[in-house]
Amino acid sequence: MSHADDTAGSRRDFLYYSTAGVGAVATGAAIWPLINQMNPSADTRALASILVDISGVEVGAQLTVKWRGKPVFIRRRTPEEITAARDTALTDLVDGFAENANKPEADASDANRTLDEAGEWLVMIGVCTHLGCVPIGDAAGDFGGWFCPCHGSHYDTAGRIRKGPAPRNLPVPVAAFLDETTIKLG
Ligand code: FES
Repeated sequence: MSHADDTAGSRRDFLYYSTAGVGAVATGAAIWPLINQMNPSADTRALASILVDISGVEVGAQLTVKWRGKPVFIRRRTPEEITAARDTALTDLVDGFAENANKPEADASDANRTLDEAGEWLVMIGVCTHLGCVPIGDAAGDFGGWFCPCHGSHYDTAGRIRKGPAPRNLPVPVAAFLDETTIKLG
């Protein structure tokens, strides 16, 4: 191979690689927006599920976090609140369903609404089922649970509607313990 051929060969290679390089960039540019559209945005992913650290929540306290644009109440109930909720007859309830996304179709017994078997942890969307106000917690209302001041709805210590215009129990979202101190919402 002469020096001239060698140079020509190198030049051809150079041109080939250059073209291939341009092609790769062009293809990459065309594909990226498609891939990008197929992925949920970072915002959407962040909202889809969140982890909540509950290590600082004392018995009798409530942590409120924002999830998917709504307040979520995470209450660590007292033994008295648990007993009051578990002793309530289903026939005394306005809404007979658990309204628990983790247990569709289940009845509204307290055990069907709490996150743990002992019933200490209650997680609910904090939006009144009447017209959407945020009920007041801290053992409020005639039933010691939550009270909605907008039109006077009273929820019991399991977040079940007991009196007032709200038609349904406060909904329990998809939630689970990841470990002893972390709850995953969504
Ligand atoms: S919005 Fe709660 S009682 Fe009307």
